Amino acid sequence: MKSLAEMNSRRFSGKVALVTGSAAGIGAAIGERLAYEGASVVLTGRRAELLESRAAALRDEGLDALALAGDITTDAEAIVDRTADHYGRLDVLVANAGASAGRTIEEMTPALWRQVMAVNLDAVFEMVRHALPLLAAVRGNVLHISSISTVSGEFDDAAYASSKAGVEAFSRKLALEWAATGIRSNAIRPGLILTEAFSSMPPDFFESQIPLIPLRRIGRPEEIAAAAAFLCSDEAAFITGTVLTIDGGESAK
Ligand SMILES: NC(=O)c1ccc[n+]([C@@H]2O[C@H](COP(=O)([O-])OP(=O)(O)OC[C@H]3O[C@@H](n4cnc5c(N)ncnc54)[C@H](O)[C@@H]3O)[C@@H](O)[C@H]2O)c1
Repeated sequence: MKSLAEMNSRRFSGKVALVTGSAAGIGAAIGERLAYEGASVVLTGRRAELLESRAAALRDEGLDALALAGDITTDAEAIVDRTADHYGRLDVLVANAGASAGRTIEEMTPALWRQVMAVNLDAVFEMVRHALPLLAAVRGNVLHISSISTVSGEFDDAAYASSKAGVEAFSRKLALEWAATGIRSNAIRPGLILTEAFSSMPPDFFESQIPLIPLRRIGRPEEIAAAAAFLCSDEAAFITGTVLTIDGGESAK
């Protein structure tokens, strides 16, 4: 794969992209990829310092990035408003931020269940709701980051899997209800991707998962970002209401 600095694709020149949960992991890789392809990117999440250092690193490369710290469960509207105030438009919204409870159904409390739903589903609805007029003005698009836990897998909890199934349904409804305005909505369903989300797992966790994956390796955030950039670009202009699975073949079994 070419390094981002070697890429000369400029599919997002003149466009503004907002990526939630982009201080690290998949969100950071998507933000970086879109910036290298010419977008002005708004990086948002709860870790202000990390976001600012990521945005500064992109600006040092001559790219355009703005860090907006906030919690999507309480600040969704403010983040969209500040994006509009700063850039005057929004072309791409990547709903990437996610949370899980790490509990079995037996251990799950209503509060933990609600917390996962608040991040993974309620905040997505709230952010999309506020972003729709901006997106409609430029025939923009929304990309949702779901998970193969909607259809397979053992270690994700029920609140997480249920919320991600909800996200896929929401994405499909959004695609249908707003198609006439030119807004597109799609989802990516990643399998196991190497990020800090698994930092609390035992050290042999990834090793133990590799035999379950036909391509015999864990995915990289950059591989999700490459597909995200395609789906959010005009090259995918006829693609809406779809879910793209990127999991090394795991859910095909
Ligand atoms: N890593 C994987 O294997 C994998 C697999 C399938 C799906 N996903 C999904 O991909 C997305 C990115 O996952 P990841 O592994 O890169 O990191 P992650 O799961 O650790 O979290 C994503 C980001 O969301 C942020 N976030 C969580 N709650 C937030 C809130 N209330 N407000 C603002 N930001 C908040 C986190 O701080 C983090 O930066 C998530 O939606 C996750 O569910 C990841």
